[in-house]
Amino acid sequence: MNTIWSKYIQGPKTLYYSRKLRFDDMFKDRWKKTFDLDESKNLKILEIGCGPGALAGALHRWYPNAEITAVDRDSELIRFAAEHEKGIEFTEGDALALPFSEGTFDAVISNTVCEHIEPEGFYGEQLRVLKKGGVCLVLSSRKGISDLKYNNLTEFEEKFWEKTDKYEDSCDKYTVGNYCAKESDMPVIMERYGFGNISADYVAIGLTPDDPKFSSELAHDIINADRYSSIERLDSVIYSLSEHFTEEEIETMKRTANGRYDERIRKYESGEKLWDTDVSVIMVLKGKKI
Ligand SMILES: C[S@@+](CC[C@H](N)C(=O)[O-])C[C@H]1O[C@@H](n2cnc3c(N)ncnc32)[C@H](O)[C@@H]1O
Repeated sequence: MNTIWSKYIQGPKTLYYSRKLRFDDMFKDRWKKTFDLDESKNLKILEIGCGPGALAGALHRWYPNAEITAVDRDSELIRFAAEHEKGIEFTEGDALALPFSEGTFDAVISNTVCEHIEPEGFYGEQLRVLKKGGVCLVLSSRKGISDLKYNNLTEFEEKFWEKTDKYEDSCDKYTVGNYCAKESDMPVIMERYGFGNISADYVAIGLTPDDPKFSSELAHDIINADRYSSIERLDSVIYSLSEHFTEEEIETMKRTANGRYDERIRKYESGEKLWDTDVSVIMVLKGKKI
């Protein structure tokens, strides 16, 4: 049982609710145009490093005739995914030793995974399980815009995070982000490990609760996705650094964070506009097994 990612790096709700927004149906046409998959076939699609399953869920909605399989190494994320997204085969497994035979899939896809896995194995395994002519889609977050005005920390919070910085070593310990590559290097790496017909595109997803194009439900989801991430980040501190903090300190941190999101929602509901925004830019690298 491996729960390193969900316990120490990113909790299931952090990933699930942020990705539910990134892959919301309002952005469906943009994503589908970029993926450009041949829907005339009964596609077999594999998602690598699927986490809690939000992208797999979107693929299931957007390609109803496709058979979607999704794999991740983290047992808790796979458990969460199977509970929240139906109609998908979720499997625990290592991207470096995929539990599938050669030439099984028409398409393989991953979202913010290539940064964490050594590229020879990451691309090599995808090449192996793809059919000839199959497509590999690698989604990777790039620098975006984050203007969240309500996110000013109190002095207590600043001191708390300064203290965690002193002890926190999960990212180094678990080689998180060890394989981040520049935009111009990404296609070169993909080609080096056997793919052809490479192209690169960028999708920008802007989330602005006050923008009327977002329903009230989505506006709440945008604010609460941030809330989940703040609270689960504190849970990770409890798992890895509990000896350095008292229960009361953690409780104060959670109460303060929740208060901030409650206040943001109160402002949203009263019609007071902050126009706070978060724009993710996602690089979509595409290659073929030729
Ligand atoms: C940044 S998260 C992204 C999760 C998911 N794609 C999403 O966007 O919600 C990276 C994911 O890669 C998974 N992962 C890292 N190394 C892996 C490996 N060798 N095999 C399978 N999954 C792996 C982690 O467990 C984690 O779920």
